[in-house]
Amino acid sequence: MHQQNEVGNKIEKSKFESSISELKKKTFVSAADIECYNVCGTTPEYEKAQQRSLNDPEGFWSEVGSELEWTKPWDRVLDDSNAPFTKWWVGGEMSVCYNAVDRHVVNGRGEQFALVHDSPLTDTARKISYNELKDQVSRLAGKLTTLGVSKGARVLIYMPLVPEAIIAMLATNRIGAIHSVVFGGFAARELRTRIEHAEPTVIIAASCGVEPNKIVRYKDILDEALCQSSHQPRSCIIYQRRRVLECPLEIGRDISWDEGLEADPVPCESVEANEPLYILYTSGTTDAPKGVQRPCGHAATLCWSMKKVYGLQRGVWWAASDLGWVVGHSYICYGPLLAGMTSVLYEGKPDRTPDPGQYFRIIEQHRVNALFTIPTAFRVLKRADPNAKYARRYCQKSLKTVFIAGEHCDQDTRQWAERVFGVPVLNHWWQTESGSPITAPCLGYGVKSVPPYSAGYPVAGYDIRTLREDGMECKPGEVGRLVAKLPLPPGFASTLWRSDERFKKIYFEAYPGYYDTQDAGWISLDGAVWVVARADDVINVAGHRLSTAALEDVVLRHTRVADAVVVGAPDPTKGDVPLCLYVMRPPQDDLFSDEEIVAESTVTQELIALVRHLIGPIAAFRKAVAVPALPRTRSGKALRGAIAKLARSQSVKIPSTIEDPSVFGDIKLALQKFGYATDAPDPEF
Ligand code: COA
Ligand code: AMP
Repeated sequence: MHQQNEVGNKIEKSKFESSISELKKKTFVSAADIECYNVCGTTPEYEKAQQRSLNDPEGFWSEVGSELEWTKPWDRVLDDSNAPFTKWWVGGEMSVCYNAVDRHVVNGRGEQFALVHDSPLTDTARKISYNELKDQVSRLAGKLTTLGVSKGARVLIYMPLVPEAIIAMLATNRIGAIHSVVFGGFAARELRTRIEHAEPTVIIAASCGVEPNKIVRYKDILDEALCQSSHQPRSCIIYQRRRVLECPLEIGRDISWDEGLEADPVPCESVEANEPLYILYTSGTTDAPKGVQRPCGHAATLCWSMKKVYGLQRGVWWAASDLGWVVGHSYICYGPLLAGMTSVLYEGKPDRTPDPGQYFRIIEQHRVNALFTIPTAFRVLKRADPNAKYARRYCQKSLKTVFIAGEHCDQDTRQWAERVFGVPVLNHWWQTESGSPITAPCLGYGVKSVPPYSAGYPVAGYDIRTLREDGMECKPGEVGRLVAKLPLPPGFASTLWRSDERFKKIYFEAYPGYYDTQDAGWISLDGAVWVVARADDVINVAGHRLSTAALEDVVLRHTRVADAVVVGAPDPTKGDVPLCLYVMRPPQDDLFSDEEIVAESTVTQELIALVRHLIGPIAAFRKAVAVPALPRTRSGKALRGAIAKLARSQSVKIPSTIEDPSVFGDIKLALQKFGYATDAPDPEF
């Protein structure tokens, strides 16, 4: 029988150790190196701001809050009486939409472009000014009102990377409602769970998305999800992508986008700073979806971060991500618009839509000043165009900086990117929960570089520490659990949607007084932070956050699978990919007759199809193999960390509690089928 997944808060020891040894290989954590990193890379301006944000949070964040226009001033900057449910700018009222759109029009900058949509996949490029954005947002908001969406109601948005998705987000906020954007790469079942959890009054979707060599039928996926869903929206607004694929509308439920824009425009509705702006679902543990709830006051932090973290006042900004992820929310939509910049939306891939010159074309054509992307994109580019033949066709004079986040970046790739883009490539660290960087270089305070491999220095409001398993603080250079001392700065998730208790349990119970980032890492004497590995079941696949436990749950649904584990295995492009080892039910199992006993290869193919169907193509689940048994302790805990280490050809120390150490022989052979564990020493006690 299969054992339950044990997804705990504790760092799996083997994973932790493997992180340290990997880190040592990568970052040479020797005394001499720590010494070398002690050369202070920060500036007095940064130190002053950082100290003030921690010692005088009211004063610091009061100034940050003034970045926005408020319709009612706040009564108190900080209310921490009910930690960890910290409130900022308490009683203050404003509209995020007003600050992101209308105020730029009011200030005479309506003609400036707010959005540039560049889509080699549909062979189109569109520019939308702040005037046009205001017009369309206020009309769609008017339509939402007539459809019964009011303050606090939810609007679920299921769209590809088109400006209409941003218009939908802003229109929802304009009337004080809460949006929940669902990434297009998820399957109908994932969409359904989010619909059932958020209970939207209205769903806004597109007819389709476009991926290389395929059209993703968003409307069909939505219909399938709604068919199975216990919650039904009052209406769906459908944006038809006429140049690609139109879909039939369901009479009585569906309204066309064009009809939506015929409504009378409505003004902005202000809400209190701690009211929710959006819900964004993310991975982390199994069972109910984890809906990160973001307060509206987040807008002030984002606006401030464009200046102080990214060092930009105006200009063209390009975050090469998707609106379905937190990066898209914060830095395709809200951040650049709040700062009055032009935000580029790129609907394409780095390497094959149609060639690896696209990133460079976009920079030249739209005069991009700063790019934010994930290391995977650079690995893809480096593989496709190692000598930068395509890159050299374009002029990148406008570009000043590149920012990377989302996963570890190897130094080779970073240096390659610096050479090819000709500007500093700066690493920073953040999470869906934080909504903006936790650590970064902070260009606006004069910190223009970070020590090799590090993710920079804590951003204002973050007091980052590393703790040992017993809760004691680590020494500089010692790997431990990365935590942030409470209170957390404004903009951080205020809770999990309708799950206050779960919010407390997941993030704040393991280390009282701290937010548990679930990341492991270390801090140098001068305060730079290195992020090493996730300590929970999350793996990062091409920058997409996936739960291995959720993948295991799907695999274990297959009637012929008795037991399974999924671990992250290294991939030269995507960083990690899921790798599944499963145990077939024995033939004598009463469940099957002889005819029903199928070949292992068939089961493998069925598992790949099942994950694709139930989670979605974004899981990149292509590696599964049957093994006679899994390594488990006598208490039933699967030794996932040991399998992950073996896949990386690292030495594995078998714990004395193991049930049957001989299983490792077959595990090694299975891993070798995928080219892993080729030089792995045999695991030993
Ligand atoms: N809608 C529907 N399907 C999608 C999709 C979307 N928005 N995005 C990806 N998919 C599909 C792809 O078509 C692919 O399907 P396939 O298996 O049928 O080929 C599958 O999901 C896997 O896609 P992906 O992992 O994205 O691989 P890729 O080779 O298509 O692209 C990258 C590689 C690097 C371009 C891509 O992973 C990427 O842009 N990542 C950035 C993620 C990010 O910004 N994260 C933010 C964290 S800070
Ligand atoms: P997400 O919530 O999808 O943004 O994923 C957050 C996770 O991505 C973090 O918890 C880290 O594990 C990882 N991550 C983000 N930025 C970095 C970085 N700069 N270096 C290493 N890992 C990172």
